Parts: sequence; structure tokens; C-alpha cells
Amino acid sequence: MSKRIAFSAVAPSGNIHIGNYFGAIRQWVKLQNSEEYKTIFCIVDEHAITVPQDPKILRSKIIEVATLYLAAGIDPKKSIVFIQSHVLEHTELSWILNTITPVGELQRMTQFKDKSKKQRSVLSGLLNYPVLMAADILLYKTDVVPIGEDQLQHIELTRTIAKKFNTRYNSIFKIPEPMINKDSKRIMSLDDPSKKMSKSADNPANYIALLDSPEEIAKKIKTAVTDSGSEIKFDPKEKPAISNLMTIFSLFSEKPMDQIEKEYRNKKYSEFKEDLTNIIIEGLEPIRKKYDEIKNNPDLLDSVLRNGAKDAKRIAMETMDDVHREIGFI
Ligand code: AQP
Repeated sequence: MSKRIAFSAVAPSGNIHIGNYFGAIRQWVKLQNSEEYKTIFCIVDEHAITVPQDPKILRSKIIEVATLYLAAGIDPKKSIVFIQSHVLEHTELSWILNTITPVGELQRMTQFKDKSKKQRSVLSGLLNYPVLMAADILLYKTDVVPIGEDQLQHIELTRTIAKKFNTRYNSIFKIPEPMINKDSKRIMSLDDPSKKMSKSADNPANYIALLDSPEEIAKKIKTAVTDSGSEIKFDPKEKPAISNLMTIFSLFSEKPMDQIEKEYRNKKYSEFKEDLTNIIIEGLEPIRKKYDEIKNNPDLLDSVLRNGAKDAKRIAMETMDDVHREIGFI
């Protein structure tokens, strides 16, 4: 039986944080190690430029994200790892899908509404980015997309676009399913628990980056906002800040929430925060170590990305042959 295809990506638009890790990358590693899936993971540099980027910083972030994929457990012997702009079929399919996507569908995307508030003159790339995301996914005839909850709306749009194409022409696209881990679907910001942790946040105190030093982690957890009262109780509605910190504690320690509540009954926020700091530092240490090892071997990353692009392009070209035939291109 042929394997199911899992595709996902991260934009190199800032520092990869524990939300990206638990919401997305950790799921990818599990899928990669399951016999059922063929896994394809992309660094979506073309998405990153939908908001202004410094070219020098972007270049280093692309390499950083690719290195972090490997450091976090993505194995290039099992998964295809590549940079989006190395496979030109992504932008070509995106253009074609734009011709069947209503503007109204794009204007109602929450991320577009949020991010366009930050642009004085709203750029069309920001509006059209979900179509590029649909192209990324459909190009590989993807079955599942492991993501955090914030991307759900974009997957729904991808499904709509795929159905539109399949109805207008012959059915060549699979209709992909989102795959969301309920325990880590949305890690919230440390400085504002009403908003998701975000790598493009202006204030680095918003997130714990996978490459933060132990000192930075300690400082960020110390200054993370807490709720009124002193009880350490998981109650996302009434106590969103401490509940978010407890979620992070539970993800790193793999302890269930009721056990954490029991252990910290009658203890102070400060004691909980101290233990949380240590758990995060310990949990991220292997990733940081592996990152340094891979960084010291640039030839390895270079060959992973070259081979990844070749493998991805082979699949992408087959899909584009189908697309060209269906729409009547010669
Ligand atoms: N806070 C989060 N909790 C759980 N999952 C998250 N993801 C992002 N933030 C959280 C998931 O990580 C994957 C890659 O995200 P992305 O690169 O597409 O960017 P994003 O979702 O928009 O993340 P950011 O941090 O807010 O970056 P910018 O502002 O640059 O776009 C996705 O699967 C996402 O769901």
C-alpha cells in the first residue's frame, strides 16, 4: 500500500519558539517515524517576505530554521527537507490557484486581518499568502498537514481551493486533512496570554525560542505575566496566564495536569516558575547541543537541502504536468 503524504512548514520570519516546536515540529518527528507516512518538510522563505525582512537576517534565519529541523529530530534519511524557493513550482501553482480563489475568501482570513493592521499600505502578498500555502500543500498531493490551531483556517481554505479545482477540471488534488495535537494546539504568549506565542512578536519576552540561553529562559519565565490570586490551578478561562505556563510545564515534563496541580498545591508562583525554568532549560538542551553540532558541519546541511529540493521537485513537476494538462496549457 502506498504511504500517506504528510506535509508541513515553518516560515523563517523570526526565532522558532516552543509553540512552533510543540504545535508543529514535534508532531512531524512522530509522523516521520511512523511507517504509514511519507513526510515532507519545507522552510517557507516565500511566506516570510509577506512582511518586510532584512535580506541578511532572512538568509541566516533560513539556515537556522533548516538546522533546527534537523536538531529537533527531523531525519533527512526519512523525510524530504527543502527550501520553498528552490522549487519554483510552488509559485507557479500559487498563481494558477489564485485564478480560482475569490478575493472575499482571502479578506476574511484572521491572520490577514491581524497582520494587515501592522502594514500602512496593505501589500497584496499578505492577502494572497494563503493561496501560496494551498499550493505548497496541494503540490505534493498531501493527505495530512500537522499544524498548530492558528493555521486551521488556512487549511480549510486549501480544501476549498482543491475542491474548486477538482470540480472545474478533473479531480487531481487530494483534499488534505489538518492534524492538530490537542495538548499543544495553541501555546500563548508569556507577556499576554490572550494572544498566541508568535515568532514575529516585537517583544522577545513574548516567546521562549528554541535557541534561547538558560539565562534568557530564566529571565523570560521570571517576568512572564501571572494571574491575580496565588493558586496554581489549570483554568484557562479564569487563570489564562498560569494555565499557559502549566501547559508548557506539562509538555516538557510529560506530566498530566492533575499531577502538576497536586504537586504545586499550596506552593507559590515563584516556586513553580523556578521549576518550570529548569524543566525548559533541560528540555531544550539536547536541541541546542545538536544545533551546534550541525552548525559546525555546513556541508551536511548543504547536501540535505540540495537533495531535498531535488526530491521535492520531482514530485512537484509530476503534479504540475497534471495541472497543465487539465487547464489546457501546452
Ligand atoms: N503559539 C503557537 N502554538 C502552537 N502552534 C503554533 N504554531 C505557531 N505558533 C504556535 C505553529 O507552528 C507552525 C509554523 O508556524 P508559521 O511559521 O506558519 O508561523 P505562524 O503560525 O504565524 O507563527 P508565528 O510565530 O506567529 O510567526 P509569524 O508571525 O512570522 O507568522 C504552524 O504549524 C503553526 O500553526
